Amino acid sequence: MGGPGAAAPAATPLDQVIPAPASVRGGGEAYTLGEGTRIRVPGGSGEGKKIAGYLAGLLRPATGYGLPVTTKDGRDGIVLRLGGSGTKGLGAEGYRLTSGGRAVTISAARPAGLFHGVQTLRQLLPPDAERQRDRPGPWRIAGGTIADSPRYAYRGAMLDVSRHFFTVAQVKRYIDQLAMYKINKLHLHLSDDQGWRIALKSWPRLATYGGSTQVGGGPGGYYTQDDYREIIRYAAAHYLTVVPEIDMPGHTNAALASYAPLNCNGQAPPLYTGTQVGFSSLCVPKKETYEFVDDVLRELAALTPGRALHIGGDEAHSTSHEDYVTFMDKVQPVVAKYGKSVIGWHQLTGAHPAKGAAAQYWGYDKTGTAERNQVVDAARNGTKLILSPADRAYLDMKYDKNTPLGLSWAGYVGVERSYDWDPGRYLDGAPAESVLGVEAPLWSETLSTSAHIEYMAFPRLPGIAELGWSPASTHDWDDYKVRLAAQGPRWDALGINYYRSPEVPWPAK
Ligand code: ACM
Repeated sequence: MGGPGAAAPAATPLDQVIPAPASVRGGGEAYTLGEGTRIRVPGGSGEGKKIAGYLAGLLRPATGYGLPVTTKDGRDGIVLRLGGSGTKGLGAEGYRLTSGGRAVTISAARPAGLFHGVQTLRQLLPPDAERQRDRPGPWRIAGGTIADSPRYAYRGAMLDVSRHFFTVAQVKRYIDQLAMYKINKLHLHLSDDQGWRIALKSWPRLATYGGSTQVGGGPGGYYTQDDYREIIRYAAAHYLTVVPEIDMPGHTNAALASYAPLNCNGQAPPLYTGTQVGFSSLCVPKKETYEFVDDVLRELAALTPGRALHIGGDEAHSTSHEDYVTFMDKVQPVVAKYGKSVIGWHQLTGAHPAKGAAAQYWGYDKTGTAERNQVVDAARNGTKLILSPADRAYLDMKYDKNTPLGLSWAGYVGVERSYDWDPGRYLDGAPAESVLGVEAPLWSETLSTSAHIEYMAFPRLPGIAELGWSPASTHDWDDYKVRLAAQGPRWDALGINYYRSPEVPWPAK
């Protein structure tokens, strides 16, 4: 331990960040936060001030400094600058961070860029900065410049709140963690066989009855419309857009159990609390089905500011192919009618994807060539792609045979395997411009607490985030695993329950 006069530990080099920044030039004097540091938001836009307040809130507990936010310009302190010379080229989410001497300045064209720059700044401070109690510091940030913007516009994480319900507070905790790695979409899997999790005025029993249990038979739960709005608000404050999913025509037992008329035989099945898939289907020939779909998508569209509605479409094993195509032909225009664009799991490419639709690929190394080719052909015809290969990006796969939680149908997914692929070259033959980005889904058959979520997401989630953000030229496992290891003390400081994978050279605790 350093007594008075001992050398302070070296500041984190500017390139030791996840996701790896697009460009880094280190050098010059470090910047040190002190008692008198102010956070400046010159010009003082509302969003800029909110981001400054968020940063101050993060750093006050450990530093013990006041970190007042001011709209006065100045050459010292932490400066968050919106607009101005040279920021246009940074795009909607990029930022520039310049550190040295009396100031560290983050500039961006848009607030999202400032927010992402703040996440970089956090990682440049010592891990102790994340603690909730007063720590001694010093709070140094290495000198130099980062210029950074994302490779892909879609960098998602999915949480399955159907198999097990997660409260608003649990979802917020995950949002906090996603934001650290510049994830910008939160896909909520709101309905499945085991539970319907969003209250709708038009079909109230979907939530009150269809949401009343979960895998294993626990009490389940659902979001009121105010709860859902609160999740959207909190996500937006962390620069994430919510992508809600209502999975159809399969994965619908909770809806079928809630309303007998949705069933072809007019009889409601019991609620389901197991983990089988592929046994349920909406009744494709019935007119009630389309009244249901219209009401559900209308209410969901009205509640959701984001552009996309996810309509599922996976594992419809109890729907004939002909019915599946008929169903998707009827349902996709409803999404458009309510002003939204369609996302579906990649089985949608076996029907007729609507113009502007995106297919979320969740195949893996055993997915047949015909199925892959169907997705590639759709991409050549204009369907966009979100890549979530199950044997790379599924956070619910076990790391190895000893992992106590998770599934293994796509194999074990270690940290290196999860990180070591290129979204730009993953689906051979798909045009590069068809790839919107990546998403890390987290299915919750075996997960019911925040500690469970964190154990599966960390340390794999940051790797998927990096694939979505960083230029392919930065991709290097040997370099990445060292940067990843340095996140461990940060997660310890934040109380994140991560898996200390033996693949990662964690510092000793
Ligand atoms: C899925 O994993 N059924 C999309």
